[in-house]
Amino acid sequence: MRRALVTGVGMQVPSRIVTNKELESLVDTSDEWILQRTGIRERRVAGPDETASSLAIVAAKEALDRSQVHPEELDIIVVGTVTGDMPFPSTSCLVQAGIGAVNAGAMDVGAACAGFIYSLCVASSLIESGQSRNALVIGVDMLTKFVDWTDRSTCVLFGDGAGALMVQASENGDRGVLKTVMLADGTGARHIEYPVGGSKYPASGEQRTPAKGLTMNGSEVYRFAVTAMGDACCRVLDEAGYSAEEVDLFVPHQANLRIIQSAQKRLGIPDERVFVNVDRFGNTSGGSIPIGLYEAERSGRLKPGDLVLTVGFGAGLVWGANLIRW
Ligand code: UT7
Repeated sequence: MRRALVTGVGMQVPSRIVTNKELESLVDTSDEWILQRTGIRERRVAGPDETASSLAIVAAKEALDRSQVHPEELDIIVVGTVTGDMPFPSTSCLVQAGIGAVNAGAMDVGAACAGFIYSLCVASSLIESGQSRNALVIGVDMLTKFVDWTDRSTCVLFGDGAGALMVQASENGDRGVLKTVMLADGTGARHIEYPVGGSKYPASGEQRTPAKGLTMNGSEVYRFAVTAMGDACCRVLDEAGYSAEEVDLFVPHQANLRIIQSAQKRLGIPDERVFVNVDRFGNTSGGSIPIGLYEAERSGRLKPGDLVLTVGFGAGLVWGANLIRW
């Protein structure tokens, strides 16, 4: 069977670190509250010249370098993002131009914090079907440019970042993307939204701005996330014929340490097999899982042959999980 094998990783985050302490001067919050409720200590915040594509291009170049693939060899670029440079053209096209991938098609996938899960499924399915051989999969978001910096219930949660995976066709091996589940419940759309700048509330013309930035019903999303994370993991493991004990590394979406721990508990996976970096980056949405995979591999926690379980959830509502033999 042909599989989509991960052959290289890349990441990029803005250099500016914003600590919880710094946020105390912006909104009525405290380092203690943020740390206790979310596990976040600091996050990276983009400057005015940084965009989703500028981070994605750096991450993409690193993944290409590490896999020793030339940009001209790419046949598809899939970018999971909901905070692209602009409504159109797609961020993937800006990446395609930025890295000189002259033979590649390019598409964005809009699945918020599950954007990378969905994007990896698109790329691996294209590879398995024979449509593509060399795919670049990127998860990137820049939510700090979309939050209302006067709303303490949301602005403390997010950070910016991009992660990239090079995935290539591999014949008859047992390594690669084994299975993905993708789930959605659009009846929960109102629980996290950024309604401005689309066809409902266009950025120009007679704009009736319903909110200053993204809005979120935190406790509703929390409840959903706790169930969704565990459900998606159990389902992908079950469909692929594995059990949670066989997972070498669990790389969940980094939104909130308490949500991660509840999924970990349900699956019975010990601490040493759970990757956590929410303390340093906050919730980077689509960037979170590929950044986690990058850091896990670069720090030696993820080795060829390891069974990796990823899971994500977010605005949509959407959720899903990938099972990968690294
Ligand atoms: O990737 C998907 C994106 N979204 C998420 O993952 C979010 C999921 N939800 C969460 O992570 C949590 O619900 C939050 C971290 C957002 C909030 O934690 P919580 O334990 O559910 O707190 P809460 O919303 O129930 O709020 C408790 C209190 C409230 O005060 P009162 O009404 O009890 O007096 C809030 O006003 O905490 C207050 N609060 C804050 N206090 C200090 C809310 N935000 C802050 C803040 N600093 N930044």
